[in-house]
Amino acid sequence: MILLFCGLSGAGKTTLAKNVATELTELGIRTEIIDGDEYRSEICRDLGFSKEDRCENIRRLGFVANRFSAHGIVAIVSAINPYEEMRRELADKYHHVNVVHVDCPVKQLVERDTKGLYKKAFLPEGHPDKLKNLTGINARFDVPNAPDLYINTSENTVQQSTSSLLYFILNNLHPIEQVKHKVSN
Ligand code: ADX
Repeated sequence: MILLFCGLSGAGKTTLAKNVATELTELGIRTEIIDGDEYRSEICRDLGFSKEDRCENIRRLGFVANRFSAHGIVAIVSAINPYEEMRRELADKYHHVNVVHVDCPVKQLVERDTKGLYKKAFLPEGHPDKLKNLTGINARFDVPNAPDLYINTSENTVQQSTSSLLYFILNNLHPIEQVKHKVSN
């Protein structure tokens, strides 16, 4: 199965992916995280943040995820993935794609600003460091209209968010993914 995350930078996608991967591994369920930041420093390093490049980025991550998923590995695509049309494209193209909206109010993201990106987006026009296409501030994010799972990381603790994702995955596992799980029990 493929978990197709979407959500703004800083919403908690990476934390959630890592936590749930740890729990799944403990249950004997193989998991692979396909992380936007990580792939952008390797096989997607030619890509920027235009709409075209973001779509290409998601296509590549989706392709990789599908290869893992075909081998019975739970594949988590952890990226902003801002366009509904791209999420639909992957959901139509591959089997067992589940869209997970990792949501957090922009106000809170701006306050946390762990990577300093929001600060850069709010710099005055013409400033050399101004970020002109930060998703949720000055670049589009399509709120998914019917996600398979919605997680609000500002209203829930990390543990609660991880649990709801884990519960969702365990309830939607396919036989090929359950083999090791059953053996280990
Ligand atoms: S996506 O839009 O193509 O899905 P992806 O998840 O791979 O994005 O990369 C997002 C990461 O790139 C952010 O977490 C952040 O670290 C970094 N980044 C740098 N510039 C931007 C920007 N303009 N918009 C969003 N993320 C950015």
